[in-house]
Amino acid sequence: MLAVRSIFLLLATLAVCARGANILGLFSSHSPSHLIVHMSVVKALAEAGHNVTVVSMQKPKVMHKNIHLIVVPVKEEQERVLEAQLATMAGQKNSIVSTLNRLMNDMNVMIDAQADLLSDPRFQRIYETKFDLMILGYFINDFQLGVAAKLQVPVIIDWMNAPIPIIDVFTGNPTEVSYVPNMATFAEQPMSLLKRAENLAKYLFITYMSHKLDSRVTRHFNNNFGGEKGLRSLEEMRKNISLAFVNSHLISEGPIRPLVPAIVEIGGIQVKDTADPLPKDIDQFLQQSPEGAILLSLGSNIKSTAVKPELIQIIYKVLSEINRNVIWKWEDLEKTPGNATNILYKNWLPQDDILAHPNTKLFITHAGKGGITEAQYHGVPMVALPIFGDQLGNAVQMERSGYGLALDLLSITEESFRTALNEVLENDKYRQTISKFSSMYRDRPMTARETVVYWTDYVLRHRGAPHLQSPVVHMSFIELFNLDLYALLISVLVIIVVLIRLTVRFAWKKLLGKAKSSPKTSKKQKKL
Ligand SMILES: *[C@@H]1O[C@H](CO)[C@@H](O)[C@H](O)[C@H]1NC(C)=O
Ligand SMILES: *[C@@H]1O[C@H](CO)[C@@H](O)[C@H](O)[C@H]1NC(C)=O
Ligand SMILES: *[C@@H]1O[C@H](CO)[C@@H](O)[C@H](O)[C@H]1NC(C)=O
Repeated sequence: MLAVRSIFLLLATLAVCARGANILGLFSSHSPSHLIVHMSVVKALAEAGHNVTVVSMQKPKVMHKNIHLIVVPVKEEQERVLEAQLATMAGQKNSIVSTLNRLMNDMNVMIDAQADLLSDPRFQRIYETKFDLMILGYFINDFQLGVAAKLQVPVIIDWMNAPIPIIDVFTGNPTEVSYVPNMATFAEQPMSLLKRAENLAKYLFITYMSHKLDSRVTRHFNNNFGGEKGLRSLEEMRKNISLAFVNSHLISEGPIRPLVPAIVEIGGIQVKDTADPLPKDIDQFLQQSPEGAILLSLGSNIKSTAVKPELIQIIYKVLSEINRNVIWKWEDLEKTPGNATNILYKNWLPQDDILAHPNTKLFITHAGKGGITEAQYHGVPMVALPIFGDQLGNAVQMERSGYGLALDLLSITEESFRTALNEVLENDKYRQTISKFSSMYRDRPMTARETVVYWTDYVLRHRGAPHLQSPVVHMSFIELFNLDLYALLISVLVIIVVLIRLTVRFAWKKLLGKAKSSPKTSKKQKKL
């Protein structure tokens, strides 16, 4: 009996192994927070028994022992340009529009570096392996779809946020400008007339920008893959995308909008279902603060030292006087803002695990999507100090949802910062609201990890699952908006109207003719 059982067990294990597909993860975005999301996706796949190979341009923080990693770092001069750009952005106000504008003009490096990667010998080695699937971490790099064309494998797009217009384009999802606020329009549903106007204007602007970027993307595709015989074009490859993973859970986060089956939500994939044990010092430090401790992190995109020293001193002064322990993510441990005993500086933090700790009562954050999601998942209220890009929108959204308060980092004062901290720490409503969200966010038929594994296997099982695609992907602008049909209908209508008029005129003439001629005949008759 036992023997039979172990044979079954053995068979079951073999079945799992046989399922292991060769999956390529191509994650060339320079943002560490993007990489965390992408790596969390492939980590789930590695844990499920797949043979994952990842190409990235920086060393990922999330790893799994079975993932084969190929790191091709950015060229030194490109790295310098990127860092300088991020630092200037920290020093001034930035909207999505100005960030996009900068991206267009100064940060082409970001796109170009992702293209240079493709001709690097370390990258080229991947063509020696026979892959079954490619997962592309999206960041204005759709020219990399050429890699999937060469490997002849289905593609899944991974995007680190809620679906944006380009994801809608890839999957044929309706964008619905009249009631779905985009990332740049911080609005609640339903939108007022003015908000709808703003949303439309921003949508048109974003569309215009992506069309401008498109020529660069196309050029990179042609440079890297143009000469190869029989290879599909960029246009064709964009229509070959099987599905897109998006890092959102719109039922709990909003906005409510339609999603085609090829958009699969895996919101919170980077958040661990169960926390890992904390390092000893951090654990003790948290325990020693019975009132509850504070976690401060201004993110990984910008080195904390790039923020103006006066601002850092304001933050330090207020935190050193607060009656709680503070864990502060700070890169340069040699040169910290100050030596207060209630502050522990760390240049690397298991942020997720700290937020999961019951003693963590407040999260001071730059409002990056990842951090906010983790705090929301664990129900920790926030004070946001956004710097640029989507952080502003995230912060506004967070405050509006009632999970905490948002301040403009560049204009904080001791007073405004202290007031905000006290308010969020003392007023229980923030904790209650975010706890309610937390339970809604976790209420799903499958966890984010299970969803990733299920849908990836689905695409593998059904060889790209083309049946999942919305027909919109293959329709032209004219067909999509029925313009040809309307043109036809209008033509028919016009023809009918013209015919009717002609007929009427003809009949009228006949009648008139008769009327005119009949008195004549009567005269004639009289004469006769
Ligand atoms: C796993 O992927 C690597 C490429 O990174 C490849 O060399 C190896 O043969 C693969 N293993 C199997 C069992 O296919
Ligand atoms: C994309 O192309 C691959 C072959 O290269 C094919 O197996 C797959 O079904 C295609 N996917 C879609 C969604 O058309
Ligand atoms: C903090 O302590 C170190 C040595 O322990 C000292 O060199 C440094 O000047 C102190 N910083 C401040 C701001 O007091």
